[in-house]
Amino acid sequence: MERLAASAVVAVALLVVAVTFSLSLLFFAGESANNFTGDTNLGRKPELKGLCDDLIERYGHPCSEHEVQTKDGYILGLQRVSSRAKILREQKGPPVLLLHGLFMSGDAWFLDSVNQSLGYILADHGFDVWVGSVRGTRWSHGHVSLSEKDKEFWDWSWEELALHDLPAMLRYVNKISNSKVFVVGHSQGTIMSLAAFTEPDITKMVMGAALLCPITYLEHVSAPFVLRLVSMHLDQVVLALGIHQLNFKSELGAQILDFVCDDGRVDCNDLLTSITGINCCINISRIDFYLEYEPHPSSSKNLNHLFQMIRKGTFAKYDYGKLKNIKRYGQFKPPKFDLSRIPISLPLWIGYGGNDALADMTDLLHTLKELQSDPELLYLENYGHVDFLLSVTAKRDVYDSMIGFFRSLRGKSSISSL
Ligand SMILES: *[C@@H]1O[C@H](CO)[C@@H](O)[C@H](O)[C@H]1NC(C)=O
Ligand SMILES: *[C@@H]1O[C@H](CO)[C@@H](O)[C@H](O)[C@H]1NC(C)=O
Ligand SMILES: *[C@@H]1O[C@H](CO)[C@@H](O)[C@H](O)[C@H]1NC(C)=O
Repeated sequence: MERLAASAVVAVALLVVAVTFSLSLLFFAGESANNFTGDTNLGRKPELKGLCDDLIERYGHPCSEHEVQTKDGYILGLQRVSSRAKILREQKGPPVLLLHGLFMSGDAWFLDSVNQSLGYILADHGFDVWVGSVRGTRWSHGHVSLSEKDKEFWDWSWEELALHDLPAMLRYVNKISNSKVFVVGHSQGTIMSLAAFTEPDITKMVMGAALLCPITYLEHVSAPFVLRLVSMHLDQVVLALGIHQLNFKSELGAQILDFVCDDGRVDCNDLLTSITGINCCINISRIDFYLEYEPHPSSSKNLNHLFQMIRKGTFAKYDYGKLKNIKRYGQFKPPKFDLSRIPISLPLWIGYGGNDALADMTDLLHTLKELQSDPELLYLENYGHVDFLLSVTAKRDVYDSMIGFFRSLRGKSSISSL
């Protein structure tokens, strides 16, 4: 009985939030309702050919566009980037696949100058750099049969990114380069990787992985803005309202932010800090440039899955509710991802920060306890979640050590020296 009462309270609370929220949306429903669900091409600028042309080639790095198709029909964009130095290009270093974070895309690795951004740095160290962009982002290329206007197009969470997007990218890179692949993930890119690495079919293609701000357990997220969204049940509300694409560049996305910020419970003057923690070392004068690229769209279901993890403290498949779980999984609760299935022979390197409000240290300890292996750890006390990507000193602080890790593994294998 008590549980019933509790769930009734939640249902009513949800309804109140939903009604308030719908009201605030009504103001511009007429004008922009068609725009946030169906902005064709996800707002991609039509005159641009691709990420190579738009961003990556600006310092003269050779860059080519590739496409892969996932088992469930999504067409993903991949870019291959190599060094400006001919001699390094000819040596063909080992392939590295870059996996961006939530609401970001492959552009995230190229936003700072050539000596600061990981994508360029890896290429200029002779690595064969592959840049992934997951489904739904502006650099991915849609679906074989679904349109971005279809709600089915957005019916996925990071689970599908782990089980479909990452395998499709890895298989392609593995095949073209004829080599095992290094994986670098940031945030959502790490959750995809760690979930996928529980599958032996995947790890046999991977030479080693560097995880920046690793996420599996999300029980100790401390970002005030995120916790506010969780307590408002924003994820469930948007789904209940039939909003399946989350695009903060759309008018609806801006309205959602206003709605959350208007009640004054979180500091929205400094949204970046409220969401990611205090970032020590990003270049504030470049934020306008970053915002030309970020944020990218994601699905409401993805946010919902992540919020389920914050609420429940589990690293598990998407929770459809008891009845649907039985149908889908044959059990009431969604199956957990078992980190101990990641082979001890898969070398892992982890970079994490003391000011990261999303990838919390307590949660990382939980992850480390379940892994069989002992990853190499790099701890930076003053780093927040975004510093690992955009800090002006990230090369010295983080990337040199990551490259050292890759080189030590390459030394053990038979690949020619860089
Ligand atoms: C969608 O947005 C574009 C550009 O922002 C605007 O010109 C157009 O009128 C909008 N369409 C609808 C249906 O609101
Ligand atoms: C990057 O570093 C190289 C070598 O240290 C230097 O020659 C070059 O001027 C730097 N480029 C920029 C844009 O800072
Ligand atoms: C910060 O960004 C500005 C504008 O792009 C640039 O001129 C400046 O050199 C950058 N500072 C550092 C430390 O990278």
